[in-house]
Amino acid sequence: MNSLQYQRHGDKVNSPWFEEFLPKLLEDRDRIGLTDMVHEIDAMMITVEPGCSVAYISELALMTPYHYLVTLESESHWTHILRIDMNSPDIMVREVRNPNTHGIFRSLNEVYPIGAHKPNSRYMGEIFRVTNQHEVVELQKAREIRFFNQDQIRKLELPGNMSIVKPSPYTHNIVGYWERPVEDIRIYALGVSVIHEDVNRGYLEAKETQAKLGLDKLILPIDHLATRIYSQNREVAILEYLTLSSYYYWGSYDIASQNSSTNVTKSAHYSNEQKSPAKVFTAANHPYFVNHLVGLPSPTENFVRNYGPRLHHIALGVADGETNGQINIDYVVDAIRERGKDFLLDVIGSREEGLKQIFSSASEHSSLIIEYVQRFGDFDGFFTKQNVAELTEAAGVEENLRLLQAESSS
Ligand SMILES: [Fe+2]
Repeated sequence: MNSLQYQRHGDKVNSPWFEEFLPKLLEDRDRIGLTDMVHEIDAMMITVEPGCSVAYISELALMTPYHYLVTLESESHWTHILRIDMNSPDIMVREVRNPNTHGIFRSLNEVYPIGAHKPNSRYMGEIFRVTNQHEVVELQKAREIRFFNQDQIRKLELPGNMSIVKPSPYTHNIVGYWERPVEDIRIYALGVSVIHEDVNRGYLEAKETQAKLGLDKLILPIDHLATRIYSQNREVAILEYLTLSSYYYWGSYDIASQNSSTNVTKSAHYSNEQKSPAKVFTAANHPYFVNHLVGLPSPTENFVRNYGPRLHHIALGVADGETNGQINIDYVVDAIRERGKDFLLDVIGSREEGLKQIFSSASEHSSLIIEYVQRFGDFDGFFTKQNVAELTEAAGVEENLRLLQAESSS
């Protein structure tokens, strides 16, 4: 493996410190075999408020290709497993059974004004498939990565066959590792497997609607995961993720008008994002306390101050082509809008620019936004600066409304 072979994209200039340690970290990771042993994102974990799983899984069943597979019942959680197939990562939707349950993941929400209103709602992180779990964990511990111990994993009611890194100080997300021969199915060592009838009913209804509208053939697996972080943590969050994963640094774009940058990392093993989604970090160019001097909007830093550093959106691909005379993404958005889901703006971009994109409103169950992205023909860019600027701005407007709501009800 050579994690340094990739062409750099983007126009955002990094510090000399970043440019010094980027090649050092990747060379070391390749040399000791970590890049080789850490493969794709195999599962993602999301927690929701008690009682929200039925509605959230129905929402995902309509808006994404995910299927409800099974629920793992443990003492204080239900963990619902959603799957497309073995070529794309699973989603674990974790629901606290008792609203008074307190724990580390809840604490990460509680000091932020909007985050605190839904203390159990957050994206937790990704689990990587590795070829030698013991060796990966030992190598990472030697690089000062901290893990939950077995007793903590048991108390947190996370699958016992995963090794899980403590939340990042920069993103507040976790990363986990588990070993699975590539031909084996994913098996979660947790609780008792049951089918929840109410979850299943909502899932089946949503899937029926999805198929009737023809959306099942148009909405593709996850393309990227976008995390928002504080301005000063941009470079360390990128390098930390490269330390934890086998991803490489694709590049960074300056979104100057929104006082923001978009920073992209991708899998060194799989060029197809559907197999292992790209990981994107968005950070303001300036910290909030100089906004009055800079005079620009600052939607990214505002988001982080309101919710804490966390995942902002999950982006799904839309198949290239047209349906009933409409470009697919326009067709998909119209169909989903008619089912009562809101979007933050109209579909932006064009065939000429290479891609079209849109953000949904944040889910009331998980606080996560769904992005749809359709790339045309052989467009090989990941995004356009103009689109990112418009999406960032739209999310910021929504954001301010939510802050007002949150403050008026507290
Ligand atoms: Fe995105």
